[in-house]
Amino acid sequence: MLPIRFDHTHAMTPAVGEHGLSESELMALTEPSVRALESVQARRSKDLRWLDLPYRDAVRKAILDYAASVRGRFENVCVLGIGGSALGNTALHTALDDPFHDLFPPKGKPRLFVLDNIDPELITPFLERVDPTRTVFNVISKSGTTAETMSQFLILRAELVRRLGEKAHRDHLVITTDEAKGILRTIVGREGYRSFGVPDGVGGRFSVLSEVGLVSSALLGIDVEALHAGAAAMDQRCRTPRLVENPALLHAALQFLLHTRRNLPMAVTFAYSHRLRNVADWYAQLLAESLGKKHSRSGAVVHRGPTPIRAVGVTDQHSQVQLYAEGPFDKWFTILAVEEPEKDVPIPLAYADLEAVAYLGGRTLKELFHAEREGTRVALTDAGRPCAEIALPRVDAHTVGQLLFLLELSVAVMGEHYDVDAFDQPGVEAGKIAAYALMGRKGYEARRAEIQGAVGAGRRRI
Ligand code: PA5
Repeated sequence: MLPIRFDHTHAMTPAVGEHGLSESELMALTEPSVRALESVQARRSKDLRWLDLPYRDAVRKAILDYAASVRGRFENVCVLGIGGSALGNTALHTALDDPFHDLFPPKGKPRLFVLDNIDPELITPFLERVDPTRTVFNVISKSGTTAETMSQFLILRAELVRRLGEKAHRDHLVITTDEAKGILRTIVGREGYRSFGVPDGVGGRFSVLSEVGLVSSALLGIDVEALHAGAAAMDQRCRTPRLVENPALLHAALQFLLHTRRNLPMAVTFAYSHRLRNVADWYAQLLAESLGKKHSRSGAVVHRGPTPIRAVGVTDQHSQVQLYAEGPFDKWFTILAVEEPEKDVPIPLAYADLEAVAYLGGRTLKELFHAEREGTRVALTDAGRPCAEIALPRVDAHTVGQLLFLLELSVAVMGEHYDVDAFDQPGVEAGKIAAYALMGRKGYEARRAEIQGAVGAGRRRI
């Protein structure tokens, strides 16, 4: 299996001058990186059990057995979930299935819908157009209380019961929630729905390689064994304490140093791969929700956190790159590259007398795509913008497994560098509580009164 490569040449001063890092600055982070890695690994069998997800063979088998048992029965798989309970599913689907899979589903394979919004202008057309009796709904909520997911569940459950009856509707629901706790687990017990557990120590944004990401993937026929094998290979590779040989440590060190020593708070993940565009989206949540924190681990008010930005090459060359190359010095870049895309398209020869177009003839889109990626990287580094590159030999389940694990471990290590708890999300919880209060949930009356008082007072609206 081919390893992905991490290249930090163009994040260093010889390539980008004063905005890059010197060798000595990077090396000075060796000891903190080793300590960070040790501290993350020490929690492996305690509260960071997501590190061991790639080795859960029995769980993977149970998921594959379930997928095999329903193969051919459903036209659609629909994930009801949000945040960490949705982004990984989308990322895996777009990375590992054909880009037009949902428009032209391959024979015997279902389409995937990920309803990670409750906007009625999304849900109404979904209900009008997608036949629930031909769909299996994978309801994913670790907490089992998220209002968005639970309201979708109630809507779709009622629709299934209306169409199929109390008994038969159950075959159309598969629930992924906490192994033991939560209302959704209670509902599973009451209804007898097929279910999978989210183990303790696996937070939403670190759950893509758990039941959260694997159930929909297995239903779509994604090679989840290779996905886990790739993640395990990256796990082994990242055990080394040698900073310059450990891609997760290197990536974390660049993020932390470029932010805090070079004042580059914005982290652009520039996916030069249509397939990896949603991995960039998934990573945006991982970085933002893990590191964007008010408090340090000792409780001091720090307001830390890099700002993730996602971009897609070549599309965003014609949208964002002007800003990236000439705007403020506040960004650094991680380019996701694919060295040998499986497919290629020849560009026909034509208009030999018109040089501005003739040079394209006889070349291929793979060559042009590569030239555009390298061209952007050159333009950015010439403009003094630090760039790292994560290069996948090709996009397949093994390399995507490597990539996801690399980024998860890197963010865990960043949590140590930034000295924040990378595994909680109090800011998200605050929004959830406010929504419960506004929806009249019992027990949240005082919060409701507070919010209504604040909203009413001094409103400026035209
Ligand atoms: O990463 C996280 O923890 C969050 O994004 C959650 O995944 C999200 O809030 C949904 O939570 P739950 O799975 O409990 O419904």
